[in-house]
Amino acid sequence: MIFLITGTAGFIGFHISKKLLERGDTVIGIDNLNDYYSVDLKKARCQILQEYKNFIFYQFDISNQEMVSSLFKRYPKINYIFHLAAQAGVRYSLTNPFAYIQTNVMGQLVLLEQARQLQHLERIFYASSSSVYGLNKKIPFNEYDRVDKPSSVYAVSKRSAELLSFTYHHLYGLKQIGLRFFTVYGSWGRPDMAYYLFAKAITENKPITLYAGQNLSRDFTYIDDVVDALLSLLECSSLENYEIFNIGNSCQEKVEHLVACLEENLGKKAIINYTSRPDTDIEETLSDVSAIYKVTGWIPKTKLSDGVCQFVHWFLQFQKNKD
Ligand SMILES: NC(=O)c1ccc[n+]([C@@H]2O[C@H](COP(=O)([O-])OP(=O)(O)OC[C@H]3O[C@@H](n4cnc5c(N)ncnc54)[C@H](O)[C@@H]3O)[C@@H](O)[C@H]2O)c1
Repeated sequence: MIFLITGTAGFIGFHISKKLLERGDTVIGIDNLNDYYSVDLKKARCQILQEYKNFIFYQFDISNQEMVSSLFKRYPKINYIFHLAAQAGVRYSLTNPFAYIQTNVMGQLVLLEQARQLQHLERIFYASSSSVYGLNKKIPFNEYDRVDKPSSVYAVSKRSAELLSFTYHHLYGLKQIGLRFFTVYGSWGRPDMAYYLFAKAITENKPITLYAGQNLSRDFTYIDDVVDALLSLLECSSLENYEIFNIGNSCQEKVEHLVACLEENLGKKAIINYTSRPDTDIEETLSDVSAIYKVTGWIPKTKLSDGVCQFVHWFLQFQKNKD
């Protein structure tokens, strides 16, 4: 099979690309290697993928219509697209809102508009986010819940991308699956996310910042479970032409528990400062994953303590190799 994977130098894109390459599939990867976080980390992920002879990499911006169009002319036999490139991060959208609309909305539109010309395309799987549930109070979040109270431009961009995808399914019959990921973590993870920032600060004896007096909790989802979910969807023969699924761990964890798991695995105590929670960050997330389970039989398997143990193992090794 021929896969196009956008955001292939990113955290999730890297892991799914690697899995498909190991299976012997052809992966065409696109990433603009922007400097939102460490370019060296993105290049290091890419370097691993480039060890596979069935990997082809292009560095360009997915909102560049001409580049996407010429890529599709060069590779008209693409079977599946995993669209994972995005301007990620919730807090950064306070200071850089335009980047989110350009990449996450314009990028989605460019991809859809060009993809409808592909004759061999079976389906597009595209990344959305638990952020679309916004200021909803009902927990756990279910795919049928309302998604009209976003708390950040990031959430707006992800919901807008879902709506564009639905319309391209309606107008042109493009088969698609939207993936609402819940706080994905693990090896080769993102340095802008709390678990990574905390691990780095704890090892460097620097303070970490938690939100005072708040019940901040997240549904932390381990990367291997995410990859399994994607493969189970890929192999599923009973998918509707257009669906959206939550991909989460279905387990709510206090951020303090994340810190305790990191402390235990790093063998060091965190120095904790408290501040107030920014309006962009919702208080709690929890996924209802019964929809994907019903269709594919997938369930998440990794407890936070086990996932953090694996992450820390990678993190320490990676930091050591960097020095
Ligand atoms: N990791 C999570 O916890 C999480 C949670 C919810 C949703 N998501 C979504 O899942 C997807 C993958 O997330 P991730 O954690 O791997 O993020 P990531 O930032 O590690 O990966 C995204 C990649 O896209 C690339 N990119 C950004 N803008 C681009 C552009 N205009 N053109 C080409 N490439 C571009 C970046 O360089 C990066 O390598 C994203 O759509 C993200 O919004 C992730």
